[in-house]
Amino acid sequence: MITKPSALQQLPADLDAERLPKHVAVIMDGNGRWAKLHGMPRFMGHRRGVDTLKDLLRCCRDWGIQALTVYAFSSENWGRPLEEVNFLMTLFERVLRQELQEMMEENVRINFVGNLDSLPKSLQEEIRRSVENTRNNQGIHFTIATNYGGRQEIVQACRAIAEQVQQGLIQPEQIDEALFERHLYTSEVGDPDLLIRTSGEMRLSNFLLWQVAYSELYVTETLWPDFNREEFHYALRSYQKRERRFGKV
Ligand code: IPE
Ligand code: IPE
Ligand code: MG
Repeated sequence: MITKPSALQQLPADLDAERLPKHVAVIMDGNGRWAKLHGMPRFMGHRRGVDTLKDLLRCCRDWGIQALTVYAFSSENWGRPLEEVNFLMTLFERVLRQELQEMMEENVRINFVGNLDSLPKSLQEEIRRSVENTRNNQGIHFTIATNYGGRQEIVQACRAIAEQVQQGLIQPEQIDEALFERHLYTSEVGDPDLLIRTSGEMRLSNFLLWQVAYSELYVTETLWPDFNREEFHYALRSYQKRERRFGKV
């Protein structure tokens, strides 16, 4: 991984280490707009976006955040031009291959969520390798949503539970939130405390629909390739100023 020389190697003094979000999720949006702004083809934005992600992952580790979940490719992103889809798939595969060694050294635990079966076989193989190799790592829990759709995730959970009912393994009365969550892709990592979306769009775009029920939302106009430690600092500061009420008074 490249470490950009950055101030903010350590947790900024105005943040309270005791009240950091445990789990941060990010909708990494705005790569295309960033490229356009700089007179480049869209794929250059995706390429720059990878550098941003690498530094954010490092930053989470440096500042003591336990889990980072990022939206890399939605189930709706297949609707983009074939050229862009192919570029992204190849990029994911190459980055995974190049970064695995370093992720091991940094003790990162990698997981993928989404409908992985319809990804290119060679990417599936790289995913399998990175997940297996990092399974016992004890550092940051890094989850990448690829071919992910929140509705699809909920439907597949329903189907799995229905099959168990049909087989007589459980009774309908036993279906509760805890059981349902065990059938979601995120069963191990749980719900994000903070959801960040870059590039200003005020929507979820089918990301973690169940899991963000009580997440704090933070939207910045900054385009993903420009999101840096300073921007993350602002997001965390905003998070720490809020009062999470969970429906109580
Ligand atoms: C996010 O950036 C990356 C992916 C969806 C893969 P976009 O590619 O959506 O960039 P904009 O929104 O067009 O600027
Ligand atoms: C959401 O961004 C998906 C990812 C960041 C991977 P999109 O750019 O696909 O979302 P929309 O189309 O603006 O809703
Ligand atoms: Mg977008």
